[in-house]
Amino acid sequence: MSKQKPTRPISRPRVKDDPKSLDLDKNSEEAAGQFLTSNQGLRINDDQNSLKLGERGPSLLEDFILREKITHFDHERIPERIVHARGSGAHGSFQVYESMAALTRASFLQDPAVQTPVFVRFSTVAGSRGSSDLARDVRGFAVKFYTGEGNFDLVGNNMPVFFIQDAVKFPDLIHAVKPEPHNEIPQAASAHDTFWDFISLMPESMHMIMWVMSDRAIPRSLRMMEGFGIHTFRFINSKGKSRFVKFHWKPLLGIHSVLWDEALRISGCDPDFHRRDLWEAIENGDFPEWEFGIQIVEEKDEHKFDFDLLDPTKIIPEELVPVQRIGKLTLNRNPDNFFAETEQVAFHVGHVVPGIDFTNDPLMQGRLFSYTDTQLIRLGGPNFHEIPINRPLAPIHNHQRDGFMRQMINRGHVSYEPNSLGNNDPAQAPARDGGFVSYAERIDAAKTRARSKSFVDHFTQAAMFFHSQSPTEQGHLINALRFELGKVAAQPIRERMLYQLSQVDDGLAEKVAAGLGVKVPVKIDGPGNMSIPADVNPKDLQSKKFTGKPFISPALSMANTVKDTIQSRKIAALAADGCDDGELAAMKKALMNAGAQLKVVSPHGGSITGSSGKAIPVDFSLLTVASVLFDAVYVPGGDAHAASLSHEMKAIEFVEEAYKHCKAIAATGAGFDFIKMTRVGEDLEDGDAKSKSLVNHQGVIGGRSAPIAKVATAFIEAIAKHRAWDREQKVSPIKEPENNRK
Ligand code: HEM
Repeated sequence: MSKQKPTRPISRPRVKDDPKSLDLDKNSEEAAGQFLTSNQGLRINDDQNSLKLGERGPSLLEDFILREKITHFDHERIPERIVHARGSGAHGSFQVYESMAALTRASFLQDPAVQTPVFVRFSTVAGSRGSSDLARDVRGFAVKFYTGEGNFDLVGNNMPVFFIQDAVKFPDLIHAVKPEPHNEIPQAASAHDTFWDFISLMPESMHMIMWVMSDRAIPRSLRMMEGFGIHTFRFINSKGKSRFVKFHWKPLLGIHSVLWDEALRISGCDPDFHRRDLWEAIENGDFPEWEFGIQIVEEKDEHKFDFDLLDPTKIIPEELVPVQRIGKLTLNRNPDNFFAETEQVAFHVGHVVPGIDFTNDPLMQGRLFSYTDTQLIRLGGPNFHEIPINRPLAPIHNHQRDGFMRQMINRGHVSYEPNSLGNNDPAQAPARDGGFVSYAERIDAAKTRARSKSFVDHFTQAAMFFHSQSPTEQGHLINALRFELGKVAAQPIRERMLYQLSQVDDGLAEKVAAGLGVKVPVKIDGPGNMSIPADVNPKDLQSKKFTGKPFISPALSMANTVKDTIQSRKIAALAADGCDDGELAAMKKALMNAGAQLKVVSPHGGSITGSSGKAIPVDFSLLTVASVLFDAVYVPGGDAHAASLSHEMKAIEFVEEAYKHCKAIAATGAGFDFIKMTRVGEDLEDGDAKSKSLVNHQGVIGGRSAPIAKVATAFIEAIAKHRAWDREQKVSPIKEPENNRK
C-alpha cells in the first residue's frame, strides 16, 4: 500500500525493447509515494530522534532502528578498483551492419536486426575514485555485451598498445605510477620519479610513452576518443576456421583532445568534466556513437609482419590492414544508481562467447587470471556475477553453489556432475548448441620462462607514432615530456629517459632536453634495458636505435580526424546587461540548428537585461565557470554590455584564455571592440574593427558591422575544426633547441 500518488516522475525513461533494461528493473526501487521503512519492511515513524531514556537521557541499546541505520552506513564503502578506480558508465546497444558469419560464429555478430544491450565503463588508470577526470592518463574503454550466448566483455583502452609485454610486470608498472608509497604523492599523475625510473629502464614501454605523452591522454570528451581491444584475438567461424582479429572503436564525433594547460585548469574548475559531459550528452539526447572496427589477419599471414602479432606494444598499422567498420555502438541511457551499476560492474577479458577466442599474447594471458581474482575481494565473494549489472541475459545453470550473498535458489539435491539422480542436468552443450570449444591451436614447444626475440624491437613503432603526428601534435608531445620529466627530481632518471627517447628520434630527445636544461647523453651506464632475467646477457635483449625512414601512418594523427560537426559542443556567450539580444538569439538559433548549445555566461547569476529590455536568463556566472569548460566563445554587440565586460577582469581572462587555447572566438558589434582590447586584438588588423566585412583569421571571427548570419556560418566552421592550431605558434611557440648532446 502506498502513501500517496507520486508527485515527481518516478523513473528515468526506460528503453522499451532493451532486455537488459527490463532485467535491471527487477531490482529497481522507486521511493516516490512510499513510506520510509527499515530493511525489514517496518514503517518508520520517527527518523529524527534516537530512542532515549528521557528526552535528555542516554540512547538505548534497544534502538534497533538506530543500530540498523548506522550499521549499514558504517559498511557502505567497498575497496576501489586497484587500477581504473575512477570511472563513468552508461547503458546502450550494439548492432552489427551485416552478418559476420564468414568470420565468426558469435551470435551477436550474425543478424543486423538484433540489438545487443551493452554497459560501457570509461576510466582513468592511476587515480583514485575521487580523482580528476583530466589527469594525463590512459582511458579504459570497457564494453559488456549482454549477448544471447552469455556476456562478452571487450576490456580495452583508448590507446592501441600497452606499456609492458608480459603480465608479470603489471604490478611493477602500477606500483611505479601510483602515488609514491612513503607520502602518497602525487595523486592521478605519472609526473614523478618512480614512474619515470621504471619507464627509463623498460624500453618496451617507449611506443606506449609516445601515446600517453600525446594529447590522446587528455581527451576533450569520453565521447570523442577511440577504443581498442589491444591484444590480437581470434575470430572462429562455424566451420572452426580461425583468423586473427584486432578490435577498434571509432567515435562518430571524431577524436579530439584538450590542451595540457586546459587540463590543469579543468581539474580545478570541474574535476568531473568528463563524467558530466557524458551524463549531460545522454540526458540531452546527444547519444554518443562509435563504429566497431575489425582488422583481420589470416592464420597463414601470422609471421608476415616485422613485429609479432602477440606483442601488445605493437599495432597493425591501418594502412597495412584496413579497419573494416562492422557495426555501431550507441550509448542512450544513464545509470539509475552509480554504485549499483558503474561501481559494481565487473569486466573480465576472459568473458568471451563462441566465435571469439584468445591468443598467446603474454599480457592477455595474465589478465585472464587477474580480473576474477581482484573482483572476488573487491565485490566481497564469489557471487558477484549475480549482481544485476553483471548477470547475463543468457540463463545460468551449473553446480556452483553457496558463498557470501548467494541470491540464486537452486532447487533439488544434486550439485555435482555426472549424476544420475538429476538426469545429469544441466547437460553439457554440443558445439552446435552453442557449447564453447577452445580453439585447438597446435603448439610444439618447451616449457620456458622467456621472451620471444620477435618482441625485442622497441623503437620502430614509437618512431612511427612520433613521425605520424602533425607538427602541432609533436609540439604537444614534446611539451608533455618536458612537463613530466621536469617534475622528476633525480637527474639520472631524466638523463636515462633522454637516452631512451634518442633511441626513437634524436630531434625529439634534443627538444625535450632543451626544455629541461639537460643534455642528451650519448651513452648511459649499464644496459639500456634492465628488464632482463638474471642469467640472460642484456645484449641479447637490446633493441636497436631506430635509424631508418619511419613508416608514416596518417590514421595515428588526430589532425586527420572528423572535423565537420559541432554536434553537442558547448559554446559560451559572454554577455552583460545591455547586450544585443537580437544577435544573441540569432547566434543561439544557428548554433542549435547545427546541434550545439549556447550557454549565457555573465558577471552575475539570475538574468540580464538585453538591449530590447527583455530579460535573458543567465546559465552561469563568471564566478562559477571558466572558458576551459567550453568549446568556443561568442561576444554579442551592445555598447553598455561591452563597456561593462571591459571592466571585468574575469571577462577579459575568459576571452584571452579561449584565445590561448586556440578556440574559435566570434564577436559582433561592440562585442568586437571588446575582444579587440584583449590579447585577441593583437591578431587583428586596425581596419578590421571598422570594416563591414567579415574578419576570419585563425579562428577569430566577426566584425563591428559584420552580418550575424555570416558570422554564425564562419563560427560554426571554425568550431567544427576543434581548434585553430595555426594560432598556437603565436601564443606559445616551441623553441628549437641549440646543441643539446653531451
Ligand atoms: C592491454 C592491457 C590492458 C588493458 C587494455 C586493461 C584495461 C582495463 C580496464 C578498461 C579496466 C577497468 C574495467 C572497468 O571499467 O571496470 C581494467 C581494470 C583492471 N585491470 Fe586491466 N588492462 C590491461 C592490462 C592489465 C593487466 C596486465 C592486468 C594484470 C595482470 C590488469 C589487471 C586489472 C585489474 C586488477 C583491474 C581492476 C578490475 C576490477 O576491479 O574490476 N590489467 N583493466
